[in-house]
Amino acid sequence: MYNILTLNKISKVGLDKLDKSKYTCGDDIKNPDAILVRSASMHEMTFAPETIAVGRAGAGVNNIPVDRCADEGICVFNTPGANANAVKELVIASLFLASRKIADAIDWCKTLKGQGEGVGKAVEKGKSAFAGPEILGKTLGVIGMGAIGAMVADSAKLLGMNVVGYDPFLNSAAASDFEAKGIKIVEDLDGIYAQADYITLHVPLNDSTRGTVNAASIAKMKDGVRILNFARGELCDSDDLISALDSGKVSAYVTDFPTDAQLSHPGVTAIPHLGASTPESEENCAAMAAQEVADYLEKGIIKNSVNMPNTAVSGSFNVRNIFIYKDSESVTQQLKALCPCGVFFTAVKKGTAYTVIDCDKEISADGIEGIIRQRTIKS
Ligand code: MLT
Repeated sequence: MYNILTLNKISKVGLDKLDKSKYTCGDDIKNPDAILVRSASMHEMTFAPETIAVGRAGAGVNNIPVDRCADEGICVFNTPGANANAVKELVIASLFLASRKIADAIDWCKTLKGQGEGVGKAVEKGKSAFAGPEILGKTLGVIGMGAIGAMVADSAKLLGMNVVGYDPFLNSAAASDFEAKGIKIVEDLDGIYAQADYITLHVPLNDSTRGTVNAASIAKMKDGVRILNFARGELCDSDDLISALDSGKVSAYVTDFPTDAQLSHPGVTAIPHLGASTPESEENCAAMAAQEVADYLEKGIIKNSVNMPNTAVSGSFNVRNIFIYKDSESVTQQLKALCPCGVFFTAVKKGTAYTVIDCDKEISADGIEGIIRQRTIKS
């Protein structure tokens, strides 16, 4: 039996992926083999020695100590793309929220309650405060052209916007595909800042993306730019953003990750992290995370891990021996020598090596220095 700890409510569709004859799932499981999580913070958690996998039902992994997990031989999975449509739909709605002051206008309408027959007159008198531009023919800059950014770019194009995209990890084939659809790919962020009337962020939060929107980058943007942040709050320097809203350099900021200072600030539309809050997306994410964890526990197969390499290994084997270690050619060669006739697979991600040897016996790596974790699965 495998024990799975759930740290948040995980959709039944996901848990149903885990065969009840093989899995016990619950929020009170001690010493779990794997953990399924949505947005609960795991940074303060001490992991049980039995824990070998974390499945994040969502894309962002900033609630998980990913590097510490790698050091402890724990494979962390996420679900890229599973909630992309849900986030895209809210981003597209937010293009209009940023333009037409819809949220402020709705709030203002509520203040007219009680004016009886005077409401119609008051509406006509006050509405000009909420006028805003159309998006047709304007330019949207998309920072990060992964699953969500690509969908946002496509939809904005269909709505008649010009779209420019930037992504340092885009290969030339993907860039050509975007260009063929009329989405211009620029070489650097300055290419976005110079052209965009609207900027939307779709990059993970890490040390190189934190504070992407700051006083210096805002200075390069067009006057009156509108910024959408459905990725992570810390991508924007909150103080710099507020100063830019106050000066009018930025005319609107729509965010799914508001800070205290941003709440109620003029020009800010604050949304409570609703990007992926649709039943469809919660089901997709839970199903994908559960499947990834099951494939890993039962077969050692890795797909969509953020700290270990994808494995191109078969799902059928007799005895599968798995070794995780800090990348070292010497360790890899010593492992290979343990079973020269076995089917050997090795790959590395972010300095962590994952080696699989399929054969007909259990192999021990005792005596080989540097192995973080080893396990054997028998079919
Ligand atoms: C994500 O990272 O997938 C989205 O922000 C939604 C979520 O956190 O669940």
